[in-house]
Amino acid sequence: MKAVVCERYGAPDVLQLKEVEKPVIADNEVLIKVHATTVSSGDARIRRGTRESLPFWPISKMAIGFHKPRKPILGMDFAGEIVEVGNEVKRFKIGDHVFGFCGQGTYAEYIRLFEEGPLTHKPPSMTFEEAASIPFGGCSALDFLRKGKITSGQNVLIYGASGSLGTYAVQLAKYFGADVTAVCSSTNVELVKSLGADAVIDYTKEDFVERGERYDIIFDTVGKTTFSRVKDALKQNGLYVLAVFHYREIFQMIWTSKIGSKKVIGGITDENVDDLRFLKKLIEKGKLKVVIDRCYPIHQIAEAHEYVEQGHKKGNVVMKWEERS
Ligand SMILES: NC(=O)c1ccc[n+]([C@@H]2O[C@H](COP(=O)([O-])OP(=O)(O)OC[C@H]3O[C@@H](n4cnc5c(N)ncnc54)[C@H](OP(=O)(O)O)[C@@H]3O)[C@@H](O)[C@H]2O)c1
Repeated sequence: MKAVVCERYGAPDVLQLKEVEKPVIADNEVLIKVHATTVSSGDARIRRGTRESLPFWPISKMAIGFHKPRKPILGMDFAGEIVEVGNEVKRFKIGDHVFGFCGQGTYAEYIRLFEEGPLTHKPPSMTFEEAASIPFGGCSALDFLRKGKITSGQNVLIYGASGSLGTYAVQLAKYFGADVTAVCSSTNVELVKSLGADAVIDYTKEDFVERGERYDIIFDTVGKTTFSRVKDALKQNGLYVLAVFHYREIFQMIWTSKIGSKKVIGGITDENVDDLRFLKKLIEKGKLKVVIDRCYPIHQIAEAHEYVEQGHKKGNVVMKWEERS
């Protein structure tokens, strides 16, 4: 089968479409023909593999491979079709359309997953492109808002509201009954309003901290703020929730867990099938939209990475496998 492989860290052109071995499934696994995957900000960080792109250097580098990626096929989420099932598989059958996470390795024509793994059926109303765009941004946004203990009636500020996590976070915070202020640049104001934000602040024109408003939760999806800067914009017992953090913020998480009423919260999102199902239901009910910025054929993966790593995509960037015989 074909796969995009990353045999060394570097610029987008390190990604090469190559022939690799097709996975062989075990009795409790399914084989999935991938129709669509995404290029996430996380994929671009791993591909670059630099001290700047990877938080927790050098621990992160040891985990993913010091000199070259230990797992050369990148890609975290997918939507596709089951083409083979193991003898013990009960939940899925050949021909089922599914979507989910794969840890790493979805830039491939075929992937294998445990049937009990993080995958679920794709509703017919959803395209493969839409379904592939749910796991990374949707599940992460949901997980971080839950870490922030979001409840109805709260004032919630989403910083970086136009990215993959941000577009989901705005909509989910509204779904949970919060009053949502979204921060993005001028070009994305209309997009973010269309997702339901009650107020939008253009960060190129105004610093939200200067407004004098107070929030129960400030969720920074893109790692562009600091606790010392936003602390005054948090209410008493307010939570500063971070999708991107470094050693300094770990120290702040520990420190604020013991002292003071304002807390710093972060963590790593796990791959949770219940969250996937929850988001799927919201989308089916029309309560959540998937934002797709661009869609590239798989042979243009380097162009897609180049675009994503500029850090200004709107929602998600999708890769599609071309029609195969
Ligand atoms: N901890 C975890 O488990 C976890 C899980 C998932 C993701 N993450 C991390 O979360 C981060 C966000 O991921 P993502 O996929 O949502 O990113 P993304 O889609 O690449 O974010 C792009 C968006 O960020 C906005 N942005 C850029 N600079 C900004 C600034 N200075 N102020 C406000 N907004 C700004 C851009 O809007 P403009 O064009 O308007 O500037 C753009 O729409 C990544 O670093 C990812 O690695 C962490």
